[in-house]
Amino acid sequence: MQERLQKIIAQAGICSRRKAEEFIRQGKIKVDGKIVTDMGIMVDSKLQLIEFEGQPLQSPEENVYILLNKPKGYVTTMHDPQGRPIVSSLLNNITARVFPVGRLDLDTEGALLLTNDGKTADRILHPRFEINKTYIAKVTGHPSQKKLLLLEKGVEIEGRMTSPAQLRVISTKAGSSEIEITIHEGRKRQVRKMFDAIGHRVKELKRVAYGGLKLGKLPLGKYRFLTIKDIDRIFI
Ligand code: URA
Repeated sequence: MQERLQKIIAQAGICSRRKAEEFIRQGKIKVDGKIVTDMGIMVDSKLQLIEFEGQPLQSPEENVYILLNKPKGYVTTMHDPQGRPIVSSLLNNITARVFPVGRLDLDTEGALLLTNDGKTADRILHPRFEINKTYIAKVTGHPSQKKLLLLEKGVEIEGRMTSPAQLRVISTKAGSSEIEITIHEGRKRQVRKMFDAIGHRVKELKRVAYGGLKLGKLPLGKYRFLTIKDIDRIFI
């Protein structure tokens, strides 16, 4: 059966569909020995040889979904040329070729999804689906209601307004506050930049939910396998 090349690559579990398109554009994919850079091309993976960076694509494996409580100090990649601790080192005996769905900064902890299901990863990451991500930020000082309202409506980051966000003050202490913030965009260091924009630096950041899927009591550095019901919670 013929299918779009980017779909076959994503189903093989090496990346999301969008990333697969990038690999095609970059000339990293060969079909029957020839580099293919056309986006719409239809291929039959049973009859044709598809190679990624010189290696034949493996046949699709069973879908695996993992929720990891990422500690600070771990890079959200499966390999790091600089030799820093990587999230994959926290997974034991997982033979499926999972990859992280989006990223968390080195100094952010909390919920990180990993999967080999490129299609679901795309649905979670694509801005069109507006999947909420909830964070708890420990920030300097006590942001006023006026400033929190500014964040809710949108602030300018690198020349572009952020989409509406939901904010809730959880607690305040001398010199700092804990604030829950829910956003659906995934711009680089977005939460930190949003609080910078109102003059309150983020001292600690933790992602606690993807949509309706909560991190809950999962210990730091530990992970659990998700069920289809868990995955459905992400999209509610
Ligand atoms: N926003 C940030 O600033 N950092 C993260 O890791 C995630 C969201």
